[in-house]
Amino acid sequence: MSTASTSPSATLSQPSSSAGALGVRLSGVGRTFDSKVVLRDVDLDIAAGEIVALIGASGCGKSTLLRQISGLDQPSTGRITIDGSPVAGIDLRCSVGFQEPRLLPWRSLEHNTELGLPRGTAKGEGRERVRELLRLVGLGHASGLRPRQVSGGMAQRASLARALARRPGVLVLDEPFGALDALTRLQMQDLLLDVHSAEPTTIILVTHDVDEALYLADRVVLLGADPQAPADGATIRSITVVPGARPRDRGDATLAHLRVELLDGLGVSAHHSS
Ligand SMILES: Nc1ncnc2c1ncn2[C@@H]1O[C@H](COP(=O)(O)OP(=O)(O)OP(=O)(O)O)[C@@H](O)[C@H]1O
Ligand SMILES: [Mg+2]
Repeated sequence: MSTASTSPSATLSQPSSSAGALGVRLSGVGRTFDSKVVLRDVDLDIAAGEIVALIGASGCGKSTLLRQISGLDQPSTGRITIDGSPVAGIDLRCSVGFQEPRLLPWRSLEHNTELGLPRGTAKGEGRERVRELLRLVGLGHASGLRPRQVSGGMAQRASLARALARRPGVLVLDEPFGALDALTRLQMQDLLLDVHSAEPTTIILVTHDVDEALYLADRVVLLGADPQAPADGATIRSITVVPGARPRDRGDATLAHLRVELLDGLGVSAHHSS
C-alpha cells in the first residue's frame, strides 16, 4: 500500500466551499441478496464538500453501495447517515446521476431540468434556478432543444443540471461519463469541477477510469473482495488520498505513480518503463 494510502476511517477536513454540502457516514454497511454476500463491513466517513471516487472490479458492488447511500436500497447490516441523521428510504438530501442521462424525450432540456426542482418551488424562482443551472453546465443556448436534438455530452449535462436542481447536499454519480467519447469525457470532468465549486455539494462518484478518479477525487476508495475469500463479499481494500489541489495536472508524476498502484489493486498490471 502506498504512503499516500490511509486507513479506511481517515477523513479530510471540511473544505471552505462546503456550505450546503453534507457529510456522509457509512458504518459496518453490508448487503446480502438471498444468500449471496455482495458487500460487508464498509466503514467510510465522507466530509461535507469532499469528492470521493469509488473504484472496483465489475460486479463488486459499487452501484449497490451508491443505492444504499441514496436510499434506493437498504443495507442488510450497518448504518448510513447523511449529516448525522439516518438514510431511511429515498433521501431527498441526495441526488443521483447515472451513465445514461434518463431524460424524458418529449420534454425540452429546460423542462427536463425543471423536473429536479423540489416540489412546491414557486414558478418564477424555479425558472430562474433552471436558467442558472443550464448556464452553469454550458447549455444556456440549448434550453429549448429536446434530448434527441443534442449530443450525448449535452444530454449528460442536462441530466447533471436536473440532479443539482434541488441543491442536494450529496450528489451520487454512477459512471456518469462512462458512455461518452474520450474528449467529451475530459471536458465533463472539468465541468464537474466547475459545478462543485459553484454548487457546494459532496460528490460520491463511481468510475472505471482510474485517471478520472485521480483527476477529480480527494480520495479514491478501492472496493473489492478478498481474493482468498471471494464469497465473503467486497469491502474497502484501500483508500488513497490524492495529493494536489484541483485542477490537477493530468500528466503529474505522482498521479502516474498512484495510477499504477490503483491498477495493481484492481488486478491490472500497468507496465511502465523505469
Ligand atoms: N437486486 C438485486 N438482487 C440480486 N442481486 C443483486 C441485486 N442488485 C445487485 N445484485 C448483485 O450484486 C452484485 C454487485 O452488483 P453491482 O451492480 O453493485 O456491481 P458494480 O460494482 O456496480 O458492477 P459494474 O461495475 O459492472 O457496474 C452483482 O453480483 C449483482 O448481481
Ligand atoms: Mg455498477
